[in-house]
Amino acid sequence: MRRKRLYEGKAKVLFEGPEPGTLVQYFKDDATAFNAEKRGTITGKGVLNNRISEFIMTRLNEVGIPTHFVRRLNMREQLVREVEIVPLEVVVRNVAAGQFAKRFKVDEGTPLPRAIVEYYYKSDELGDPLVTEEHITAFGWAAIQDLDEMVQMALRVNDYLSGLFRGCGLRLVDFKLEFGRLWEDEQMRLVLADEISPDSCRLWDVETGERMDKDRFRRDLGGVEEAYQEVARRLGVLPEAGPVDLKGPKSVQ
Ligand SMILES: Nc1ncnc2c1ncn2[C@@H]1O[C@H](COP(=O)(O)OP(=O)(O)OP(=O)(O)O)[C@@H](O)[C@H]1O
Ligand SMILES: [Mg+2]
Repeated sequence: MRRKRLYEGKAKVLFEGPEPGTLVQYFKDDATAFNAEKRGTITGKGVLNNRISEFIMTRLNEVGIPTHFVRRLNMREQLVREVEIVPLEVVVRNVAAGQFAKRFKVDEGTPLPRAIVEYYYKSDELGDPLVTEEHITAFGWAAIQDLDEMVQMALRVNDYLSGLFRGCGLRLVDFKLEFGRLWEDEQMRLVLADEISPDSCRLWDVETGERMDKDRFRRDLGGVEEAYQEVARRLGVLPEAGPVDLKGPKSVQ
């Protein structure tokens, strides 16, 4: 079947969907970090992130948080509603880690007094800078009402996912969300888009503190594939055949 490839990003490819207003998201094994300065592949990541993101988006839909997710199509692809992406990464932090720990010189692992929401402007050229409401509204990236709605949704996602992961022995340290605009009868609605996976969340084992996310790749900690598999296993979405299933094409034609 021939279909139009609309966009190739660092971790996914977007194809035209079967109906207008839909897209197919294809999950690759490619991994990048530090604004693509570091590149590599994580075997089976695409298969696992497709499943993990499907699972999380489905649970969120069930609790009334709207998402772009329609259904999983196969091992590496899912059908989503096409949205106009708000050019922001909305980050929620429960525990100091990564850039945040560096910026404020606090030890990684320090619990924050409350969940902190941050915005980064999506621009590879600028290196996704931290921005404030002032920048967002002045440059017209989002209206203040939309920003308020995104923060509310992000905090609901945080409450729900913190509990979900805690139930499988994982601590949700922080995560990144992307939102998109959907138009229905002249009305605009904000929905969660992109993916929610160990690429976009920091997940630490509750017992051992072990990192179970993309930091294993960023920091060359080893056991990267195993960590993604373990997250999938704990969520109950590891494909039956296990690693055998995970061997897939490295890139799409
Ligand atoms: N429902 C959707 N409709 C339209 N675009 C989407 C949707 N969901 C995600 N996207 C966009 O599709 C792309 C997914 O590809 P990928 O995650 O590989 O991109 P990326 O390399 O991280 O690049 P970017 O800097 O654009 O996020 C992203 O640009 C993301 O914003
Ligand atoms: Mg991305």
